[in-house]
Amino acid sequence: MSTMPAHETRPSSEEGDLLDMGDPLAEGDLLDMDTPLAEGDLLDVDDPYEDEDFPPLLRVSDLAVGFSGGKRSTHPLTPLQGVNLSVEEGSAVALVGESGSGKSLTASAVMGMLPAGAEVLRGSVSFEGEEILGASEKHMRELRGSRLAIMFQNPRASLNPVLTVGGQIAEVIRVHEDVKRKESRERAVDLLEQMGIPNPGRRAKDYVHQYSGGMAQRAALAMALSCRPRLLIADEPTTGLDATLQQQVLELVVEQVSERQASLLLITHDIGIVGRTCEQMAVMYAGRVMESGPVEEVLGDPANPYTAELIKSYATVRHGRMNSIPGVVPTLRGPLVECAFADRCPKADEECREGVPALRELGGQRGSDERKVACVKA
Ligand SMILES: Nc1ncnc2c1ncn2[C@@H]1O[C@H](COP(=O)(O)OP(=O)(O)OP(=O)(O)O)[C@@H](O)[C@H]1O
Ligand code: SF4
Ligand SMILES: [Mg+2]
Repeated sequence: MSTMPAHETRPSSEEGDLLDMGDPLAEGDLLDMDTPLAEGDLLDVDDPYEDEDFPPLLRVSDLAVGFSGGKRSTHPLTPLQGVNLSVEEGSAVALVGESGSGKSLTASAVMGMLPAGAEVLRGSVSFEGEEILGASEKHMRELRGSRLAIMFQNPRASLNPVLTVGGQIAEVIRVHEDVKRKESRERAVDLLEQMGIPNPGRRAKDYVHQYSGGMAQRAALAMALSCRPRLLIADEPTTGLDATLQQQVLELVVEQVSERQASLLLITHDIGIVGRTCEQMAVMYAGRVMESGPVEEVLGDPANPYTAELIKSYATVRHGRMNSIPGVVPTLRGPLVECAFADRCPKADEECREGVPALRELGGQRGSDERKVACVKA
């Protein structure tokens, strides 16, 4: 494996593009906000939410997942290599990263829906303070669709093609709550209406194949929210829709989750939407989180070269040029022994190959306590 010369300067991110894109807060707004505490006071205060008595809504710790590889393979795949991630109550967190970095697999592990052949190798997933990794299928079924819901890229994966849309939403409501059939049907129609589906009473009687792509995704959102989940995981919920519909559906997801004071984990390739939709973000590469923290800090001053390269690649695609980071996402077979980005990183040197950089607090003057980075050079 070859290494490239280390750069002395922090890579330019063209981050202004991203933060300008509809970010509801201008930079100055943050500083102008009335705050009852002086800056020094904040540093002296112990954050109660760091205490384990106040765990985040979701915490994924050191999650590693492998595939057996079948009888013919002696090289099991190990796509998740120790994922660390948390989602606080009422917050919206984006999970970004190139294709194949392990975003969907992380979501599947949280939902207890890993694909066939996948096995949890180590780690923990705690939801509402309770360990759910390895929980019984019965328990996970109870959680899914009630406290914990997921929306997939393809809405037809969330909706049963042989049941009417309204009928199946009503049925889910009845399974989780002690309500009569008539009330559950009325609530299903109400939900479809809240999701912006015209003529909801009539459309509730249609099947999903009678819905357009955007409408089907709205119906999938209605389904996901039907039992008032505390956390919605939306895995690329707008891919495949045209740009206008993407924007509308995404805004709807964020608005509806926020209205319910629930939390959102939004998985996306598109870091351009992150500034418009989420307060926190985590950047994933090769089955690990490379960097996490408040969106404006991560996009405005990326600490991990991978984040900086990802931002640059996004900025170039927006300007109509080639977009990808040179090199490819590695296929992982066995535990990592060095930084997974070392072969592609413009800052890599021998130090990066001495072990896998842990995700640690960034520290220093660069941002809040919430900022974490996995890089020996940061
Ligand atoms: N069913 C499977 N069988 C074998 N390997 C799999 C399977 N699903 C995922 N993987 C492996 O896990 C890696 C991560 O997959 P995952 O679907 O989580 O990526 P992703 O970050 O969601 O990518 P994308 O942005 O394209 O959706 C893949 O590159 C692949 O090696
Ligand atoms: S630790 Fe990884 S991301 Fe950081 S400089 Fe080295 S190769 Fe790049
Ligand atoms: Mg995916």
